[in-house]
Amino acid sequence: NVLNNALFTHNITALAPMVRVGTLPMRLLALDYGADVVYCEELIDIKMAKCQRVVNDVLETVDFVAPDERVMFRTCEREKGRVVFQMVRLTTLPSDVRLLLDSHPPSSCREQLTRSELSLVQRIEQTGVAAVAVHGRLKDERPRHPLHLDYIQAAAGAVSIPVIANGGSLDLVKTNKDIEDFRRTSGASSVMLARAAMWNASVFRAGGPLPLETVMEDYLKHAIRYNNHAFNTKYCLCQMLRDKVESPLGRRVQAAQTSAEISEALGLQEFYQQTQDKLQARRDAAHSGGAPERLVMDGDVTTMVVRFERREYPPHITPKMFLLEWSRKEKLQQPLYETVQRSQDRSFQSIVTVEGKRYRSTLWEKSKKFAEQAAAVVFLRVRGVPEGRIGEEDSGLVCKRKREGQPDRGAGEEDSNKRHVDAQLLTSSPGWQMVPSLTLGK
Ligand SMILES: Cc1cc2nc3c(=O)[nH]c(=O)nc-3n(C[C@H](O)[C@H](O)[C@H](O)COP(=O)(O)O)c2cc1C
Repeated sequence: NVLNNALFTHNITALAPMVRVGTLPMRLLALDYGADVVYCEELIDIKMAKCQRVVNDVLETVDFVAPDERVMFRTCEREKGRVVFQMVRLTTLPSDVRLLLDSHPPSSCREQLTRSELSLVQRIEQTGVAAVAVHGRLKDERPRHPLHLDYIQAAAGAVSIPVIANGGSLDLVKTNKDIEDFRRTSGASSVMLARAAMWNASVFRAGGPLPLETVMEDYLKHAIRYNNHAFNTKYCLCQMLRDKVESPLGRRVQAAQTSAEISEALGLQEFYQQTQDKLQARRDAAHSGGAPERLVMDGDVTTMVVRFERREYPPHITPKMFLLEWSRKEKLQQPLYETVQRSQDRSFQSIVTVEGKRYRSTLWEKSKKFAEQAAAVVFLRVRGVPEGRIGEEDSGLVCKRKREGQPDRGAGEEDSNKRHVDAQLLTSSPGWQMVPSLTLGK
């Protein structure tokens, strides 16, 4: 859709891909100020392949989360149809592109290179790509070197697909008006900006640039609203500050370690607190059943974002207990729990197998017991079976004696004789560690 919608039509202005800079807050800021299309930072295929897609109901985003819980890519409705996902392959390039690049040896002669560049861009067009961005610099030139406008002109004249002019941030594009001049003089269809936007994203604004402090505040509001990682927020703010990074404001930003401290440095502590309160209210609503929970299949495992909250259950009741009783009533095999522990924070995640199907929460818990409870909750919520929360104790699944905390041979899971068998690996990702035993419900 992006192909048809925006990027590959003519006369658009884009935020160029920038590692660490092109995360969600910067992309939204660029869209606010008038960019038509925004690129994400460059992401690597093998890392993305390990990510899990999680619908984040609290932030109203879709997150791609790595096994170490880092959010590799976060997007939201606002940028639908306008964000370009830049993913690089570390493994193999498509064979036709590889062939093309292999047959295009670098040359130091400017005239030869121009011819060679032209043939390259035409051959790229023939592979069927929808548009091509031309940076306007040679391979061994640095971003500080002047741009070769004539190379972009030559490329634009040589192909019929849209050409996006890029590389003009340092010497050509200072204001919004310069964007149009760059597009016109380069002969390209569109313009893509990296550094000019990183320094002051209001360059996209038709109404003229805004003071840096205003741009930094607007950026920070998106970062707070979308729970951006504090280090990333700080990095982007420091890029905006440029030579003002040693100013009093710059020093305050540099000293800040958390999102709260960064907000304080920019005088946005009230906005920060109000946003935190709103997000917390959404989290609470999600936990108390106010917001619908969504199932996501991860291979053959049914997942849900569920945290086991002990305080939501009466003292002697647990979801595992309810699941065990339900399985007995249904004359099924006992639920089987498999747990892994990850090394970086020693937290736990469990899968429960019931009727040959596997269920797990995407969240990590501080203990193995809690991880098993969370997995049981996922199953019970998927199947609509009562899980024993306060108010559900009398659903008839667990007998009264047990509910009142008296020993009841056979009904509970806490006092059951645990049987241990060899662990099976849930995942082979590095940094994960199997909990050395696999516990059966009884
Ligand atoms: C901080 C930074 C990060 C960048 N990261 C990427 C990237 O992830 N992928 C990419 O294709 N180009 C990347 N670039 C190159 C830019 O997209 C762009 O081609 C280059 O900066 C020239 O455009 P400009 O003159 O508007 O800055 C990056 C540039 C900068 C300054």
